Amino acid sequence: MRHLLDTKTLTRSDAIGILDVAEDMAATQQREVKKLPTLRGKTVVNLFFEDSTRTRISFEAAAKRLSADVINFSAKGSSVSKGESLQDTAQTLQAMGADAVVIRHGASGAPRTLATSGWITAGVINAGDGTHEHPTQALLDAFTLRKRTFGDASRGRDLEGLRVTIVGDILHSRVARSNVWLLTTLGAEVTLVAPPTLVPQDVSAWPATIRYDLDEAIAAEPDAVMMLRIQLERMNAAYFPTEREYSRTWGLDAERVSRLPAGSIVMHPGPMNRGLEISAEAADSPRSTVLEQVTNGVSVRMAVLYLLMAGERPTDEKEG
Ligand code: CP
Repeated sequence: MRHLLDTKTLTRSDAIGILDVAEDMAATQQREVKKLPTLRGKTVVNLFFEDSTRTRISFEAAAKRLSADVINFSAKGSSVSKGESLQDTAQTLQAMGADAVVIRHGASGAPRTLATSGWITAGVINAGDGTHEHPTQALLDAFTLRKRTFGDASRGRDLEGLRVTIVGDILHSRVARSNVWLLTTLGAEVTLVAPPTLVPQDVSAWPATIRYDLDEAIAAEPDAVMMLRIQLERMNAAYFPTEREYSRTWGLDAERVSRLPAGSIVMHPGPMNRGLEISAEAADSPRSTVLEQVTNGVSVRMAVLYLLMAGERPTDEKEG
């Protein structure tokens, strides 16, 4: 694997390969000494043009646990504010010895530009680009679903037949897009639930069922409900009902959680708007995997860094 730019083009065998390596990495994280020498002498640059807590810190933790050096770059406070371009910024960091660049950018396609422009030779990992994709979030979500469903027997398994319902601001969500592609590649059935104004125009081309009624979606007995953050910063009045109406109609609260089938889990990529798309009771309920997803994110990002910078895996044609 040279770069990780999206899940739309990730093959089933590569996705399963990443999840299997992530399991190995998770096992090392149970040990007293968590650090592995694998990437000693390599440098990972975290190049973040948008805010992040989970993704940036877990990539940093993942790189450090593989003994890589880490350079954290945040556009805020950098020469980007003086007008420095993505090309010049990336080439400056490459000149400091970057072997891999983890990039989050507000523009959809920025990671692909970095990977294909010839500006740098480092491997590129997309840590979220505009409304396009957030592949490592989807991989950690798939890892969490697989672990919850198959436990220790998860190795080599896909998500065949698992029913996952993704709820909320689909329009602006790169997490939804990456999950739709990855989960369906792995055999899951994905249902999207949102107000009509928060459904993308091209959604009919996605391999997912669209619903507008959360209660009907819950009655269909999903194995997992993934709530999405309402991206208030990208919202305008044309898209959004009042917060009160949204939480009443599309929010997950304790009463709706109580109607989920036994064993069904509640997911959220974070950060959460408690009281809007998810109530505190639902977020903190025993069914919630929110913090488990964060923990799994470190193992999945260790696996991705390892496969990009040290490992070799065979690829095959995308199935289906
Ligand atoms: N889920 C996610 O991408 O969170 P951050 O924005 O905190 O990285």
